[in-house]
Amino acid sequence: MEIGQQQQSGSQDIQQGSVADDYSDITLRLLDLSDVDDFMEWFTDEKVAKFCSWDCFPSREAAISYVAKNLIPRPWNRAICLKGKPIGYISVSPCRGNDRCRAEIGYVLGSKYWGKGITTKAVKMVTSSVFLEWPHLERLEAVVDVENIGSQRVLEKAGFTREGVLRKYYLLKGKVPRDMVMFSILSTDPQVNYFICD
Ligand SMILES: CC(C)(COP(=O)(O)OP(=O)(O)OC[C@H]1O[C@@H](n2cnc3c(N)ncnc32)[C@H](O)[C@@H]1OP(=O)(O)O)[C@@H](O)C(=O)NCCC(=O)NCCS
Repeated sequence: MEIGQQQQSGSQDIQQGSVADDYSDITLRLLDLSDVDDFMEWFTDEKVAKFCSWDCFPSREAAISYVAKNLIPRPWNRAICLKGKPIGYISVSPCRGNDRCRAEIGYVLGSKYWGKGITTKAVKMVTSSVFLEWPHLERLEAVVDVENIGSQRVLEKAGFTREGVLRKYYLLKGKVPRDMVMFSILSTDPQVNYFICD
């Protein structure tokens, strides 16, 4: 499937906004290996990689391997597209066993598009969608570095509750343990219904 072409797969396609505003035509669609060429713009950007689990990719081949092995197999992942062009990525990773009532959301956007409300819009779209697709899901959570203020702001704007700081919780890029902020939104939170109607 060509980049930007809408997939006809029912609830797997999500659309919001109009083409009137430059940054309002945001769509989410399944990832494709051919998206790597667009992803290279932010896969090679140190500003973007700073709080991500991965380091900047040294080559297109390394990026293809990462997308094929780590992103595409995830149960719920979408490219964030602006007017059909992939400019970022958003995923939901379900927890298993006795933790299966919850799932974790993660996202990345090319730095050229930061500060325009795009990720907030994508998080709202995903939140409404996963609670509908996975009725067993009670809680969607996000764990964010204490210094990643932009990401914390996204979650606050998308209606998540800041629950507290988890001290020395995560080895960022396998190095020093970082304090992380836990955010969550519940399927029963009233703002989820608001997003569905939005
Ligand atoms: C975090 C990220 C996804 C935000 O995406 P975005 O599309 O720019 O987010 P939005 O425009 O929807 O909202 C960002 C908000 O944070 C604010 N913000 C960003 N950086 C900030 C900072 N250093 N201090 C204070 N506020 C900041 C913006 O002003 C905006 O808030 P506002 O609308 O009230 O002005 C993007 O910066 C990114 O991809 N970062 C790299 C990857 C990453 O960190 N992913 C998250 C891992 S948990």
